Amino acid sequence: MYTIATVVGARPQFIKASALSRLFSVHSKIREILIHTGQHYDLQMSDVFFRDLELPRPHFNLEIGSHDHGKQTGLMIQKLEEVLDEIQPNAVMVYGDTNSTLAGALTAAKKHIPIFHVEAGLRSFEKNMPEEINRILTDHMSTVLFCPTSTAIHNLKNEGLFHHDKLPHSINQPGIFLTGDIMYDVALYYQHKAETESLILHQLNLQPNSFFLVTIHRSENTDNRLKLALLVELLEKIASYFQLPVVFPIHPRTQKMIHEFELFDKLKKLSNLVLTNPLSYLDMIQLESNSRLILTDSGGVQKEAYFFKKPCYVLRKETEWVELLEQKKARLWMYDNQKALADIEELITIDNENFAAVFGDGMAANRILSIIENEILFNEP
Ligand code: UD1
Ligand code: UDP
Repeated sequence: MYTIATVVGARPQFIKASALSRLFSVHSKIREILIHTGQHYDLQMSDVFFRDLELPRPHFNLEIGSHDHGKQTGLMIQKLEEVLDEIQPNAVMVYGDTNSTLAGALTAAKKHIPIFHVEAGLRSFEKNMPEEINRILTDHMSTVLFCPTSTAIHNLKNEGLFHHDKLPHSINQPGIFLTGDIMYDVALYYQHKAETESLILHQLNLQPNSFFLVTIHRSENTDNRLKLALLVELLEKIASYFQLPVVFPIHPRTQKMIHEFELFDKLKKLSNLVLTNPLSYLDMIQLESNSRLILTDSGGVQKEAYFFKKPCYVLRKETEWVELLEQKKARLWMYDNQKALADIEELITIDNENFAAVFGDGMAANRILSIIENEILFNEP
């Protein structure tokens, strides 16, 4: 058996990992060991995804929890080292760009264990963003890099990372592959289930195509009082100008900072605002696919807006998912509330046509599995 240790820790990673975990669970030559770092731990940030996405219970939960970046990443590395020593995997699989991704990659690299990085090559070109550091470092330690878009391949080339043909790949001679976006696989797989099983539209008393959906959690937005106050003001303007419900499932980081900056009373007063706890994946994609427009600073939610052919107002000054801008399906906020209403007014006129297939065909996980199978063949004694 070829053992792959998958390291996950944050909400979007449970979602991304579900597609390959399903394939690994029935594979005759691959055994997956799931390691949860415990970066996200609330029921609504972790357990609901294991339940809804039929993920196996993690073999290990490191229960690291919330800390400053250094301590959080350091504690993960310390515990991961022990676990990797115990299970001796043939490869470590990491997803995206969180501290759990970096910790998984760094621990594996130091132990000379091949690293498979899903969602490689993404760049915002803003190194003050914690995720940008995590991505760059992880990509440069990886053995096989699975890129969701051709932009990602291009970004890696610009940093001197090139695909090598020789198998098996290694840290010095990595393999770089265009696979399509694994989140698209997951969205397609669960869309029908969400439509039939989610009661969220009814529970929140919402009509299809007649509400906005908002998510905010980037530290650049939440940890700066001025920016968070500007965002609350933006929600206020939208709710009153468009006279449509604005649904806001609130991330725990954002909830904490809104209270800390004493913005909660202002938020609570907005008449069209529908505040909820973080939602399950099925409820979330049901809301996304029925919304009129999505406002978000989330990477995953931006893409899902596109998958469901919805315009997106990106609550940032740059995005890694430049395809949305190139296709003219999204605009950047740039912290400009004056321009925001006019931009959103234009965006909501977009119909659901001409959403080119820039994120692949929903078969990324199968492509990744075939590539891994090739690696295994060349690793066999
Ligand atoms: C992390 C990732 C980010 C990703 C996001 C997905 C890093 C550096 N950031 O950001 O890239 O987009 O996850 O959601 O890895 N908290 C809870 N309960 C939880 C989890 C967090 O209350 O289950 C609160 C804590 O106060 C914590 C704060 O949220 O301090 C931030 O959590 P953390 O995991 O550090 O970062 P995220 O903002 O969630
Ligand atoms: N998501 C969810 N419930 C929510 C908010 C988001 O299930 O209340 C899902 C969303 O559909 C997407 C993923 O979480 O699949 C995105 O994760 P997040 O925004 O936390 O992180 P990012 O993608 O920015 O790293």
